[in-house]
Amino acid sequence: MSEPLIHWKIERMDEGEEPDLRLAECLLEIEGRIECGGQTAGLVDAQYIYSEDPTSDAAFFELWDLDAAACAVFEEIMDHECGDFLDPIPGFLDPSSGILCVRFIALRPPFRRIGLGRAVMRELVHTLADPRIGLVLLDARPLQHRPHGYDDFDDEVRDLPWNSPDEDREALMRHFETWGMQRLPGTRFMMASPDALRDKRTPQWPPGPILDQWHTCTACGGWIDREGGDWLDGEYGPVHKDCV
Ligand SMILES: CC(C)(COP(=O)(O)OP(=O)(O)OC[C@H]1O[C@@H](n2cnc3c(N)ncnc32)[C@H](O)[C@@H]1OP(=O)(O)O)[C@@H](O)C(=O)NCCC(=O)NCCS
Repeated sequence: MSEPLIHWKIERMDEGEEPDLRLAECLLEIEGRIECGGQTAGLVDAQYIYSEDPTSDAAFFELWDLDAAACAVFEEIMDHECGDFLDPIPGFLDPSSGILCVRFIALRPPFRRIGLGRAVMRELVHTLADPRIGLVLLDARPLQHRPHGYDDFDDEVRDLPWNSPDEDREALMRHFETWGMQRLPGTRFMMASPDALRDKRTPQWPPGPILDQWHTCTACGGWIDREGGDWLDGEYGPVHKDCV
């Protein structure tokens, strides 16, 4: 099997004013198209969320609540009685309080059963887990049993087994345990520290250009300081006054 090449598309979802993502509290939406041996092998989808205090009200309203899927993750991994994440998550998040939440890895039939899934997870951690990430979560629900699984995916959902959702999920969870992940009891998630999944992480983070609908001039592509006065709300989004 040749190593996967992943083409990333990363979008910043929060409205934070800190332009340097290495310092910013932020929510990033990550999509990857997996290429293997020159062919499209599947898709990977994840969110990167960093806040110094990810269970705080500020983190909830400014990051988690920006996106329905992120909000649902927050609700599911919170212990609402004690106001902290479910055990043992807090142990993972001290002192690196960022979370990389992988919504799915979905491979096309010819690319399953050759070890590519694990290689994709290793590459994801290598490229996207900077030192601020303390925890990797993976939604272990089988693709074929997800709502809209058959509408949202065409090639990736083909030829998957059709047992009860619980049986298929159990098969997947057992498989992910062989990657070094553990279950988060009572939830759909598997989890691991990034170091358990990959020994090396990229020194160059973020890994490429970031789409940022709040701070990118729709005319020139440059940074817009929304606190400053040199921009307007254009027809397609923010635009520098000089670019109109
Ligand atoms: C999950 C996945 C990325 C793992 O890739 P991988 O590490 O290369 O592992 P494999 O493709 O060899 O699959 C490992 C085992 O899980 C089983 N499996 C994989 N996806 C499954 C699913 N959706 N439902 C039930 N079992 C599944 C395989 O049949 C295989 O079982 P076997 O060892 O008894 O033959 C890949 O199998 C895949 O893309 N599956 C479909 C998409 C999906 O359901 N993703 C889950 C959400 S992350």
